Amino acid sequence: METILIKHAKEFIGQEVKLQGWVYNTRSSGKVKFLILRDGTGYLQTIFFKGNLDDQTFSKFDLLTQESSVIVTGRLKEEPRGLGGVELDATGLEVLQITQNYPITPKEHGDAYLFDHRHLHLRSSRPYAILRIRHQLIKAIRDFFDKNDFTLVDTPIFTPSACEGTTTLFGVEYFDTKAYLTQSGQLYNEANAMAFRKVYCFGPTFRAEKSKTRRHLIEFWMVEPEMAFCDLKQNMEVAEKFVEYIAQWLVEHCKIEFETLERDIEPLKRVKAPFPRIHYKEAAKLLENAGTGFIYGGDFGAPDETFLANKFDKPFFITNFPMAVKAFYMKQDPEDPTLSLSCDLLAPEGYGEIIGGGQREEDINRLLSQLEKHHLKREDFEWYLDLRKFGSVPHSGFGLGIERTLTWLCKLDHIRDAVPYPRMLYRMRP
Ligand code: 4AD
Ligand code: MG
Repeated sequence: METILIKHAKEFIGQEVKLQGWVYNTRSSGKVKFLILRDGTGYLQTIFFKGNLDDQTFSKFDLLTQESSVIVTGRLKEEPRGLGGVELDATGLEVLQITQNYPITPKEHGDAYLFDHRHLHLRSSRPYAILRIRHQLIKAIRDFFDKNDFTLVDTPIFTPSACEGTTTLFGVEYFDTKAYLTQSGQLYNEANAMAFRKVYCFGPTFRAEKSKTRRHLIEFWMVEPEMAFCDLKQNMEVAEKFVEYIAQWLVEHCKIEFETLERDIEPLKRVKAPFPRIHYKEAAKLLENAGTGFIYGGDFGAPDETFLANKFDKPFFITNFPMAVKAFYMKQDPEDPTLSLSCDLLAPEGYGEIIGGGQREEDINRLLSQLEKHHLKREDFEWYLDLRKFGSVPHSGFGLGIERTLTWLCKLDHIRDAVPYPRMLYRMRP
């Protein structure tokens, strides 16, 4: 008899199979008892008719509790009204463990309680659906770059210096010196782009953000493409095709998961390139007129982003942010030296920034003066400056935050739901 996964059950209709899993739910009415089995790949209703099992096995059923681990054998049959169109007539039941007092019950629990029990909470249908979508999101991301001539080149996690400003650096001991957990793979990516032309890195990044918001994690995953011979405009063209690709992939491949989350996928179907582009000055005007308290020259706060993100029904770019609010590596806007050749992509439905990127300064002298302005030490960046000495070319790239993107795609209230084990200002366990 074959041991199968529930996701493949339909292919085995009419056959005797063995299923391994956990008790999701039970109900019984005299001579017939029902067990919904969860095996990590799906849910299946199994039916225990008194006549199909010996008395001892049939009576074992009554011991079953939520999340008990079991092996059920039986014959699969088509059942159009059932879960996934299949049911199993059980002929055997083996109990591995009877679970006592499972802490998560179908009743409502508070968020703090659920995140204290995150190691168990992952078995529940909502986190399960979200993390299945996360898996497909990451697959789509990799597929897009792999299909478009990018090479995956990994960047280090221990780094000697800052990429995204010194205020959110995480310091760690590195033998008898100090290292920082990476905030972004970008600087190494720039070196890699000069070797491989189009590259991406994908990994965990760390920011010691002291703010407690629905959008910030301390540890988050970021995918960062970087392209040699690429300007700001071309960079945005890649970003919009990329975001269209991942949204359409999920619409196509995660229907059941979106249904579980009650996420309307119509807005996602509209995520098609080209995306609107608004200049920083234009965005600033909109905010000033709306009276959000925004002051020209500054970065956008969460309420500003929400305001702008409610104005569009698909993702949109904001371009040319002030040099003063961006990192040292940004290229100056030749049309206005106070501005930069930067682009953020904001998600609609009120979600805000999911991508940050732009064109990099390729001129060594300007880069040197930028380092100075940002109080960064030249000796930490000698290797990075080399890239501007040996065949410097215009180049650009961007970073997309996986959890920010998933929060929008799944229409979640809080970013902590978009990662299996969130690391936040006040949470590092389990
Ligand atoms: O805008 P950021 O800081 O840009 C960079 O790190 C660039 N070096 C990327 C590049 O050009 N290669 O971060 C990029 C994205 C943001 O748009 C956001 O989606 C996500 O990373 N992000 C965070 N996500 C969760 N929690 C945080 N604390 C985040 N900070 C940034
Ligand atoms: Mg940013």
